[in-house]
Amino acid sequence: MSATPIRWGILGTGNIADKLARAVETDSDSTLIACASRTEGKAEAFAEGRGIEAHSDYESLLRRDDIDVVYIANTHNFHAECTGLALEHGKPVLLEKPFTVNAAEAKVLVDLARERNLFLMEAIWTRYLPAVQALKQSIQSGSIGHFKHATISFGGFAPPQYLPRLVDPALAGGVTLDMGIYPISLLCYLIGERPSEIQAQYQLNEAGVDELAAYHFRFPCGTTASVSTSFCLKMKQEAMLYGSEAFIEYPNFQSGPSFRLNRHKGGPEVLETEEYQFEQDDNGFVYQVAEVVRCLRAGKLESDQISWQESVEIMAVMDEIRAQAGVKYPFE
Ligand SMILES: NC(=O)c1ccc[n+]([C@@H]2O[C@H](COP(=O)([O-])OP(=O)(O)OC[C@H]3O[C@@H](n4cnc5c(N)ncnc54)[C@H](OP(=O)(O)O)[C@@H]3O)[C@@H](O)[C@H]2O)c1
Repeated sequence: MSATPIRWGILGTGNIADKLARAVETDSDSTLIACASRTEGKAEAFAEGRGIEAHSDYESLLRRDDIDVVYIANTHNFHAECTGLALEHGKPVLLEKPFTVNAAEAKVLVDLARERNLFLMEAIWTRYLPAVQALKQSIQSGSIGHFKHATISFGGFAPPQYLPRLVDPALAGGVTLDMGIYPISLLCYLIGERPSEIQAQYQLNEAGVDELAAYHFRFPCGTTASVSTSFCLKMKQEAMLYGSEAFIEYPNFQSGPSFRLNRHKGGPEVLETEEYQFEQDDNGFVYQVAEVVRCLRAGKLESDQISWQESVEIMAVMDEIRAQAGVKYPFE
């Protein structure tokens, strides 16, 4: 490990920034330097007790020369603007999910990162979890045979502090960009491609954003999948991955530490069951922090776990879902 830890700055000190800050604070090769908030007093409150500097505007943090990477954690509608600003200031970026609001914005960011030769990664933190990495390896190694179908349900009543941004079209609200992205991203990761056929059903709130959605996908390899997701309905948190030889149950989707492989070898009965349990830190963000550090140390511009192209393509999947749902944001 080199003598100077990776120095982090945070833009946007809302609900989720604290979790990332705690992950940075526990990473042995990272240190948190500063935070910035455009809301009066919020950066100071966030910085208090952390021994970091508070900025009341983003640019003053971005002008610092003692920051190696910036974590952007404001609402979706600001992701493109703020990441663009950070890249223009020469800063590598870890950008909260969803990468942007739509694929067009995502492509602009990727082009800018490439032009500036700067690291950029979507903070789709679940992808870096030990259990999810093992799921990927298991499926790749053929444990379920031909991956034929998946069902994922992921829903619950959102904590009240999340609701203002979830229900508001001006903040790019809606369940697809906020929660639907997790099952979509998992499927794309496990299958290794993006769906070629997409059908979406949805229920909209009074303001016109999707609060409950069901997606049906077909991937070019033939795998099909059904997803249901909501921020205002208590649902089972579960992914079921069905293959020609076995099926996998992944409970506590999206961040569970274990899964179960049930082998039937193409017959009617489950013949054997294997349980896979992983040690997982209570703060699941530690794995994405480690991935950022690994990439920066290796001089990589994008993570092997999620390429720029994949982030753009996942935004395109959600563009199609929103088009079918008629969800268009006022600033689009
Ligand atoms: N990975 C995860 O598990 C996870 C969980 C939750 C959220 N997220 C993602 O993290 C991002 C932030 O979510 P959050 O729940 O932390 O958001 P939030 O607390 O509602 O807001 C985050 C920041 O966005 C800015 N903001 C919020 N509402 C605004 C408004 N009406 N006008 C202007 N600025 C506003 C503020 O930035 P300033 O501080 O600069 O004023 C605020 O501190 C989202 O993209 C979300 O998808 C990820």
